[in-house]
Order: sequence, then structure tokens, then C-alpha cells
Amino acid sequence: MRRGDRGRGKMEDIIRELERKREQARLGGGARRIEAQHRKGRLTARERLEVLLDPGSFEEFDMFVEHRCTDFGMGEQRIPGDGVVTGHGAINGRLVFVFSQDFTVFGGSLSEAHAEKICKVMDHAMRVGAPVIGLNDSGGARIQEGVASLAGYAEVFQRNVLASGVIPQISVIMGPCAGGAVYSPAMTDFIFMVKDSSYMFVTGPDVVKTVTRESVTHEDLGGALAHTTKSSVADLAFTDDVEALIQIRRFVDFLPASNRVKPPQRATADPIDREEPALDRLIPDTPTKPYDMIELIEKVVDEGDFFELQQAFARNIIVGFARMGGLSIGIVANQPMVLAGCLDIDSSRKAARFVRFCDCFNIPILTFVDVPGFLPGTAQEHGGIIKHGAKLLFAFAEATVPKVTVITRKAYGGAYDVMSSKHLRGDLNYAWPTAEIAVMGPKGAVEIIFRGEIGDAARIEARTQDYRARFASPFIAGHRGFIDDVIMPRATRARICRALAMLRDKRLENPWKKHANIPL
Ligand code: HXC
Repeated sequence: MRRGDRGRGKMEDIIRELERKREQARLGGGARRIEAQHRKGRLTARERLEVLLDPGSFEEFDMFVEHRCTDFGMGEQRIPGDGVVTGHGAINGRLVFVFSQDFTVFGGSLSEAHAEKICKVMDHAMRVGAPVIGLNDSGGARIQEGVASLAGYAEVFQRNVLASGVIPQISVIMGPCAGGAVYSPAMTDFIFMVKDSSYMFVTGPDVVKTVTRESVTHEDLGGALAHTTKSSVADLAFTDDVEALIQIRRFVDFLPASNRVKPPQRATADPIDREEPALDRLIPDTPTKPYDMIELIEKVVDEGDFFELQQAFARNIIVGFARMGGLSIGIVANQPMVLAGCLDIDSSRKAARFVRFCDCFNIPILTFVDVPGFLPGTAQEHGGIIKHGAKLLFAFAEATVPKVTVITRKAYGGAYDVMSSKHLRGDLNYAWPTAEIAVMGPKGAVEIIFRGEIGDAARIEARTQDYRARFASPFIAGHRGFIDDVIMPRATRARICRALAMLRDKRLENPWKKHANIPL
């Protein structure tokens, strides 16, 4: 045998050995556990990444990382990759960093090495400026490792906080997520869950039973329904793994890669001057009759494509992403169909967080206003509506991104101020001819100003009509320049698109500070 042939043979052996090691790593916890995962209707960590990322785009890191624990017989149980698949890939051609916990390896539990892998991905993402998407499916801290695992969690937490407002962070909960482990997703920008197969709680049903004597299932305590309708911890829930991952691909398209770049702009076939005559008839003749604000949103945004978040929580306010003239924007809108669109604790918190996300990431904010005021009542006052309402006020006032506001109908009282008014540095504030901008509704106003005449129904009615004619219009605000123009509903899309184009290079800075102190 010649020398060259001998060398080639050795090289082939080395390559074969590498392939064997890779194959072993790809198997994770083995065929039996993979089957168990499939039986639960869940994909494996790697299958999930295949659905999430563009074909062939995944570049894996740390496939051969192993844990360093020797207690409890762990020295003999080392699985390459240690329960999390990490790396980077592309979604519709744009770079994203990912980690996907592998439940087939020690239940996806987090060891020191597992945490180091996640941290490495986060560090890379911060250096290059790209989102991190975490697919969570884990039994929590690796029990055999004790404090080393807790330290690993804290390293991840610290990075979550430093990355907040720098790169978008998205968590998808696709299995268990319990104990202190919930706090990493909690500090990311968005949490998505999978219905009937994921849950999140700080303490599980057994601890709950011991401490409070309540009997509750995993699902009722921390399933997708609980977190999208009651706690608002999760932004949306999807029917299964595949739907969740496909929707995340759609979602990521709306977001910029980091706070250093402008939001994505893509080509659209939808003309920016498209008129929508149906909008001229959207507002009912009776001021108390509701209409669906979603219809307005879908009629004005590009191709009717609106990605609504927190759809099942605080439905009196709508938040989500869309595009106008191809540019990603965030939409905040009162929903007259629910609680007449008033602001309350939950809706203020929901919208405030969304506004702050948009502001962090240079995403213009479009606000549609039809708000009769803040919801009255002891539950609201004692629940802290003063502080929670202030969150939304604070968020809009602090935001320096382009802000375009359209008042469609009511804009009463403090809620008028709050909803991205001119006074909170709204850049372009439009009103439809049906807008009523006033301290309060005509009836309430008359009953206060003319309290002595309340017994005289006809007189009160006449006063109300008079008040409505004089004050319940956009023109008083228009006289002062608080409204830049009264626009035709059918022309709403064109006016907003032009406003956003004009504001593209807007520059506005808040005074230097370490950070503001938003009422929490
Ligand atoms: C090590 C774990 C593990 C963990 C599961 N496994 N959780 N190994 N550490 N935390 C292993 C199991 O031993 C099992 O190994 C495999 O993963 C699958 O687990 P099963 O129990 O068979 O699966 P399932 O019936 O689906 O139940 C899933 C589960 C349950 C509900 C998550 O495993 C569970 O309750 N695990 C413990 C959860 C927990 O208490 N974690 C610590 C929380 S405290 P084999 O070899 O049989 O396949 C915490 C603190 C974080 O996380 C603090 C951060 C600040």
C-alpha cells in the first residue's frame, strides 16, 4: 500500500468517526424517548428547528458538549449536546439565533453545560444584532446538579435582561416550563404556547395542594388557556407544534433584527392610495352602538394582514403588528365591541408593554382611538387603575418612534390624552368627521353642568343635543391644532401611509437618564 493510500484510509476513518458521533448526538435521548415525545403529539427539538428555519440554513454549535456532573451515577450517562440544540439559521432569509430544548435528554433539564450553550447563543446574537428564539421543553433545573444548575439559570436571566430592548427575544413554550425556569421566558418580549401540551407555573399542582389545599390540574393552573385568557403571561396559543412554528416564522418577519436597525420594509402589491369606501359607513348612527375595530384595521393595512397579540385578554384594546406601504408598524386600538372600548387595568398594561416594545425597536406606532374613558368602579380603583393607567400614559409619552393617531369616534377625558394624543408628542393626529373629542360624553357633561335641571327630561335632552352639536366634534380640537386634519374615512390608508413615509427619518431623543421609572 502506498503512503498516500494509507493516509486516505486514516482520514476516511476519522470522517466516519465524526459522522458516527454526529449521528449519536442527533439521536438525543434515543429512539424510545423520541417515540414517547411523538406519542404526546410533540416534535423533537431538531424536528422543531426544521419547521422553524429555512431549509438547510441551520448551523449548529456545541453538538458535542456534555455535562460535567458525576453525582447520582451521572458520570455514566453523558449524551452529546446535553439536552439543548443551539445555533443560528434563517427565517425567510433573515438571521436568527435559536435554542431548542430536547426533552428526550434528561427531560430537557438545564445543567450548567446546557445553560452555557444557551448563553453562547445569546452572546453571539447580541454581538451581531439578531433575534433569539427559544423553544422551551424542559423539566427545569437538572436535579442531579443542584446549585450549578441554578447558577446556569441566573446566567441566562442576566443575559435576558441585558438583551432586553437590544434584540428581540421570543419564547415558545412547547412542553413543561416550571419553577424558576419560567423567569427566562417571562423576561423575553413575547411568549407563545402550544395548546394542550405546554404549561408554565412557578409551583406545580402538588405544591399548590399542600400549601393552599386547592386541587387543580396542570392545564388549569398553567396551560395555554390560563395564560392567554387569565394571567396574560402568554401572547398567543397555537393548536400544535407545527402551527406554532409556522406562525413564529410569520411573526418574526415583522420585527427588526435589533434596536440598531430600522424595521423591515418589504415590497407590497397593495397600493398605498387604496380607498376603502366601506369605511365611510363603519361608524353607526347611534353613538353608543359598537362596531368592530378589527374591520377598520384589516381594511387599512397592507393586504389585510394583521398579526394580533393577546387576542383573548383585555379584548377592549387591540394590539398587534401589520405593514403599511411595506413598512412594519405596531397598532394599538380601542375595541368598541368590548366594554365600549374603555381603558381599564388589564388593557392599559397590555397596551403599555406593546408600545414599549415598539419604541425599543424603532417600530412606528399607529393608534386608532374610540375611547369613552377609564372604567369606573371599586374593583378598578382598588386594583390600582391609577398606576396601571399611568403605564400606558407613560409608555406613549416616552415613545420617540413615529406616532400616527386616528380618532374615529369618542376620545373623552383623560383617555383622550393617553391615547397617543398630540400633547404626548403624537406626530400626526387625524380625526374622522365622526370624532367626538371632549372632556366627557354629552349626557354626562350636561348632567353635571345643569344638575339643577335633571328632573326636566326634555330640557336635559335639549341641552345634550346642544352640547353634542357644539363640542362632540373634531373641530374644537382642530381649531387649536391638536388635530392635524379631519380626514375622510375612505382615505385613511393613504393618509397614514403618507404620514409614515414623511416620518421615516424622524429624530427625537428623550433627556439623558440611566432609565426612567415607569410605574410598575
Ligand atoms: C433531571 C429530569 C428532570 C430534572 C425530568 N427529568 N425532569 N432529570 N432533572 N429536572 C428526566 C426524568 O427523570 C426522565 O428520565 C425524563 O426526564 C422524562 O421525565 P418523565 O418524568 O418521565 O416525563 P413526564 O412524565 O412527561 O413528566 C415531565 C415532568 C416531570 C412533569 C417535567 O419529569 C417532572 O416533574 N420533573 C421534575 C420537575 C422539577 O421538579 N424540576 C425542578 C424544578 S425547580 P428518564 O431517564 O426516565 O427518561 C427548578 C428551579 C429552577 O427548576 C430555578 C431557576 C432559578
